[in-house]
Amino acid sequence: MERITLAQGQLFQRKRELEEMSEKLSLSNQELSRLNDMKSKFLSMVVHDVRTPLASIRGFSELMTKRVGAKEAAYLKNIVSSTDQLGRLISDLTDLAMIEAGKLKMEKSVFNFPELAMDVLPGLLINAQKKGVELLLHELPDGVMVEGDKFRLSQVFMNLVNNAIKFTPAGKRVEISFKREGRNIDVLVKDSGIGIHPSETKKIFEKFYQAKYQKDEKLRKQGWGLGLSIAQEIVHSHKGEIGANSPGLGKGSTFWFKIPVGV
Ligand SMILES: Nc1ncnc2c1ncn2[C@@H]1O[C@H](COP(=O)(O)OP(=O)(O)O)[C@@H](O)[C@H]1O
Ligand SMILES: [Mg+2]
Repeated sequence: MERITLAQGQLFQRKRELEEMSEKLSLSNQELSRLNDMKSKFLSMVVHDVRTPLASIRGFSELMTKRVGAKEAAYLKNIVSSTDQLGRLISDLTDLAMIEAGKLKMEKSVFNFPELAMDVLPGLLINAQKKGVELLLHELPDGVMVEGDKFRLSQVFMNLVNNAIKFTPAGKRVEISFKREGRNIDVLVKDSGIGIHPSETKKIFEKFYQAKYQKDEKLRKQGWGLGLSIAQEIVHSHKGEIGANSPGLGKGSTFWFKIPVGV
């Protein structure tokens, strides 16, 4: 009898300890989520306050280009392209902040999927030309209607093609194809660039992850490792899939994404 009372007492004590621990955990959970909220708000504030002066630096530099000599114009061109680079980082950070706050909303409409390539192709061709990479677009399938956010999906497409151009040396080629496969439309971007180590083809879709086996430090510094994580988020919000295959380092890569067709 005495033993039972003792055990009951111990049980009661343990229960109280557990309750206290669970209360502490719940408090630190609340604190964590408050800090996370603060981080997201801070990020979007900074992003906004950087974007505005950046636009003015870019605008005035462009205006001045017409009023100065060739040497100064070349300097100004450098300023403009640097602001563009910074602008891209800012919009990636905005997207990241929205994803983390669960506010990256898709504005869906019904559109002919291959249009998304046509809209951004001229810009991509210029990038390829600058780098000396050949960009090849295979024939597009006809009339593939998709319900989705056209702007966001073309952002995914652009990210994959710009990466392919970036990670492919001059003189080589990037090939784009669109294929209707069952209930999906598949987009494939195949390059003949630096390739990916088999252990990293999944990791590169994590935010801020850049492949460690690739030796080119200069290419790494040109980015932040955000593009693919944002692309993945967008594709998943369309109930699609995204991935990368590579036969290995130095052997090129194929990045692909697929989206269900139909409305
Ligand atoms: N076409 C490609 N060929 C080889 N590696 C690539 C390719 N595209 C992406 N990667 C790898 O995936 C990483 C993450 O890509 P991304 O999220 O677009 O970031 P970033 O381009 O800013 O580095 C890159 O740093 C690179 O290591
Ligand atoms: Mg990138």
